[in-house]
This record gives sequence, C-alpha cells and structure tokens, in this order.
Amino acid sequence: MNNENIIEIKNLIKSYDLGGIVALDQINLEIKKGEFVSIMGPSGSGKSTLLNMIGALDQANEGSIKVAGYDLMENKDFSSFRSKEIGFIFQLHNLIPNLTASENVQIPMLQTTSSDEEMINRAAELLKSVNLGNRLDQVPTKLSGGERQRIAIARALVNHPSIILADEPTGALDSKMGDIILELLREIHKKEDVTLILVTHEDYVAKSADRIISMMDGKIIS
Ligand SMILES: Nc1ncnc2c1ncn2[C@@H]1O[C@H](COP(=O)(O)OP(=O)(O)OP(=O)(O)O)[C@@H](O)[C@H]1O
Ligand SMILES: [Mg+2]
Repeated sequence: MNNENIIEIKNLIKSYDLGGIVALDQINLEIKKGEFVSIMGPSGSGKSTLLNMIGALDQANEGSIKVAGYDLMENKDFSSFRSKEIGFIFQLHNLIPNLTASENVQIPMLQTTSSDEEMINRAAELLKSVNLGNRLDQVPTKLSGGERQRIAIARALVNHPSIILADEPTGALDSKMGDIILELLREIHKKEDVTLILVTHEDYVAKSADRIISMMDGKIIS
C-alpha cells in the first residue's frame, strides 16, 4: 500500500426510478492504492451499487467519482477503463457455459492487442496459479462451484487490473471452499499489489481486510 488514492468519491448520489429509490446517498470515500477494503451492510444498503459505480458498470446521478485517474462522471464509453483497470468477481461467477475454462479466462483479453498464443499462455498460467492447471479445457458446467469461482478469479486477473471488485465471491460456496477462495484473494492481494474491494456478509471474511466499511441505507456509517 502507498499513500496515493486510487479511488476518490465525493458526495456521490445514485438513485433509481426517477429518484424514488436512493441507493447511494451522498457517499464520501477514499481508497488507497494497494489497500484491501471490505464492505459490509444489510441487504439493500447499496454495496453492489457502490461497486458498480467504481467499476463504471453504471453511472451516478450527482457528485464526483475518480478511479485510477479516470473521471467516471464524464459522459463517455468506459469499456477500455473496465478492461484495463478493473477485475470483477461476482457471487455467481458469470462464466460462459459452452466455453472452456481457458477460453473463459481469455475473454477480457479479446479487447487487447494480445495474440492468440499470448492469450492461451496467460490463461494457462493463471489457471495453474488457482490450481486448475489440469482443467484448462473443461467447460464450467462440468466443474464444482469452487472451481468455477477460481476460474472467475483467474479471469478477473488476466489483464493485470489495478483494482479487483469482488461482490460476495464466497457467498454461494460452502465454508471450506469459501475459505480457500478467500485465502486465494489474500495471496493475490499480497503478491500483485492490487487494490482489493470485497463485499461480504461474514465478519471473519471482513476482518481479513485492512479496513472495514459499513453501509446502511445508502450511506457509509463507519
Ligand atoms: N437496477 C435497479 N433498479 C431499481 N432499484 C435498484 C436497482 N439496483 C438496485 N436497486 C435498489 O437499490 C438499493 C441498493 O441495492 P444494492 O443491490 O446496492 O444492495 P446490496 O447492499 O448490494 O444488497 P445485497 O446484500 O442484497 O446484495 C436497493 O434498495 C435496491 O432495491
Ligand atoms: Mg449486492
């Protein structure tokens, strides 16, 4: 971790249904480069919405949000920001069922100038690092939940992102597999010097972070 903020959010407001639902209510948040932050809070408190704003999957209504040098309130296409800077890991891993493990990991590289050979080699290297070196050509439907989540982690890392956004990555797994995934994320955080933001409902998972952010009703309460 160093002292540079990779994320700076000021008075951010995100509402849905023409303001009827305020999912983020004046959020202020700074996150340092290389920091590991966990986000906790009840269902509906705005955790996923906040990750979606940071990853430019959706845009806020008011306030400012700067991530990795990009002003995300600008009116433009952020797909290159997403593929270069962000690795997403969701609760349900969003793998493409008829592609192999290796092909799924290569998807974010399709937007880069990498050759086929580079893509195949990078996918193999990452799948080996998550202990799936013997499953490169298997499709996700023939793999366990934990194995699928490990593919999703490999996919999130493929373009060397500066930020990993993980939305309850252990939520759909039993506690033993959840522990393995958590340990893997911690190792990656240590080794790759990546900023890790992890949404979780579990205290013991949250406690492994440098800092815990608690949300309630669209606000950060601590
Ligand atoms: N696309 C949408 N359209 C309308 N309302 C939405 C939309 N997405 C989220 N919301 C609302 O915004 C609020 C925050 O939702 P969000 O998904 O961020 O909660 P969360 O903290 O991630 O909850 P959970 O722990 O259940 O995943 C909720 O009231 C939700 O109903
Ligand atoms: Mg959520």
